[in-house]
Amino acid sequence: MRPFLCVYGHTNIDHLLTLKELPERNTSSNVLSKKSFFGGTGANVATMASALGVPTALISYVGKDLPPEFRQLMESKGVILDEMVEVDGKETPTVWIATDEKEDQVAFVFQGAMADMSSYPVQVKGAKDALAIHLMTGSPDYYLRLLAQPNLLRKRRGLDPAQEIHHVWDAERFQKALGFTDMLFCNRNELATALRYTGKEGPVELLDSYRGMQVIVNTLGGHGARIYGRNEVLDVPAAKVKVVDPTGAGDAFRAGFYAGLYRGKSWMECGALGCSAASFAISTQGSLTSIPDWGMVEERARSLLR
Ligand SMILES: Nc1ncnc2c1ncn2[C@@H]1O[C@H](COP(=O)(O)OP(=O)(O)OP(=O)(O)O)[C@@H](O)[C@H]1O
Ligand SMILES: [Mg+2]
Repeated sequence: MRPFLCVYGHTNIDHLLTLKELPERNTSSNVLSKKSFFGGTGANVATMASALGVPTALISYVGKDLPPEFRQLMESKGVILDEMVEVDGKETPTVWIATDEKEDQVAFVFQGAMADMSSYPVQVKGAKDALAIHLMTGSPDYYLRLLAQPNLLRKRRGLDPAQEIHHVWDAERFQKALGFTDMLFCNRNELATALRYTGKEGPVELLDSYRGMQVIVNTLGGHGARIYGRNEVLDVPAAKVKVVDPTGAGDAFRAGFYAGLYRGKSWMECGALGCSAASFAISTQGSLTSIPDWGMVEERARSLLR
């Protein structure tokens, strides 16, 4: 099947540890509980978008140690994995996050097979076949090489570096990438960094100065999302749900948003579908533990638009 959406990003194993108190340097703490989850920006968006009926390909670099159950989960939702590359001699990216009773956290990120992404040849098949390309965490140089490929200009091209905008991207590369994309996705802090990199006062000014840019989608946690279009600013309310674990909210939002684009919905409807999908993700621990289907997401989105 040809993908509608082609997602580039991480496929991770996430290990979540809880502790009474984070240890001081050169000391240790007992781990009270540990749980492991499948995650990563790319895998999250691709799996959830597929589950919402969007034909989606994932381009990601992993190791031979990728758990077969993870691949099976993605395949069972229909993710096209032809261009997911198992890199010889490398391991799957892995993250350890320790959280203590005060909700203070430390994270250790092992990039594994994604560490050398800038030197890999770009995978272009899915991107050429798809109508929308979504670029998440990963090498800016790789993504700039991809965006320079001919034939991509008529497609939807979403730039979404997530937290890597702060420490992996820089002003020069970010400005260059904006010149080749038409949608920017960011949360509050990420928008602040995007404005700093471009020297703009606000999102409207940013949108105005990149002619190809159609929309900035700014997620606002419990306040939902604000969508800046060329002629309008739309406020999308969040769903009112109990937050169990906010991890993966942003990724689920993207999946819902693309499920709307796939079905030709308006920006407002896409935003509501995003907030709806995110509300399912935050109601359980882990990102890919309870994946909603289209009917569930559409119904809750409708209630947000009333
Ligand atoms: N407390 C909440 N209540 C309801 N919806 C929420 C809440 N927090 C997040 N969401 C939903 O998730 C979406 C994304 O959240 P947020 O803006 O926090 O993204 P993020 O910072 O990228 O999250 P993360 O990277 O941790 O997944 C929001 O637009 C909203 O729809
Ligand atoms: Mg995020």
